[in-house]
Amino acid sequence: MSNKTLIAPSVLSADFSRLGDEVEAVVTAGADWIHLDVMDGHFVPNITFGPPIIKTIRSRTKAFFDCHLMISPADPYLAAFAEAGCDGMTVHAEAGPHLDRSLQTIRNLGKKAGVAINPGTPESAIEYVLDRVDLILVMTVNPGFGGQAFIPAMVDKVRRVKAMIGNRPINIQIDGGASPETAPLVTAAGANVLVAGAAVFKGGSAEAYRANIEAIRAAGDAANKD
Ligand code: DX5
Ligand code: ZN
Repeated sequence: MSNKTLIAPSVLSADFSRLGDEVEAVVTAGADWIHLDVMDGHFVPNITFGPPIIKTIRSRTKAFFDCHLMISPADPYLAAFAEAGCDGMTVHAEAGPHLDRSLQTIRNLGKKAGVAINPGTPESAIEYVLDRVDLILVMTVNPGFGGQAFIPAMVDKVRRVKAMIGNRPINIQIDGGASPETAPLVTAAGANVLVAGAAVFKGGSAEAYRANIEAIRAAGDAANKD
């Protein structure tokens, strides 16, 4: 748990032909976590990558691999993602009927457990699993693609999630449309982990990545009330 703003670049906006180099570059540029967007073309209308690709980049950094599973079902694949080197796995509340079981499975694999909710899902859907999670991911776009516009109504949802978790040591992460403009809105509401794809990888160079990450982090920290 960190009160400081953690930045988790989403590799969705990286150059996939040089994925290992890109991961190393953003970590060198100051990234706290690496956010890995796994999509199945069924739960979301896009397909990305799975455990074999994650395994190939695992050796490039010790940074926390934050695996966002936009797949349904998720349960049959959790062990494979753990084995590939994910440190945390986040499943969607909408992805299956047995959320509590999925979260227990992740913890039983020795990994950090996260639960994600789409913009249309009320936070009450995850109230019953609060003691099973290390992270709550509030989607601030509809999942499936990088570079989409931030949905402003999600700021109040972050605020409600923050109130709902009380003093439990749970990270609140937002994903989608993060930028120096939107970061202060969500950190002021209680988010402490910001996923950012387009806003981190724009510019395509090591210097650009450093400046981009610093700009988002500074904007987030400035508004953080904790
Ligand atoms: C969307 C993904 C996000 C997304 C973030 O489905 O989960 O991680 O790629 O990208 P930006 O920051 O470009 O909105
Ligand atoms: Zn994501």
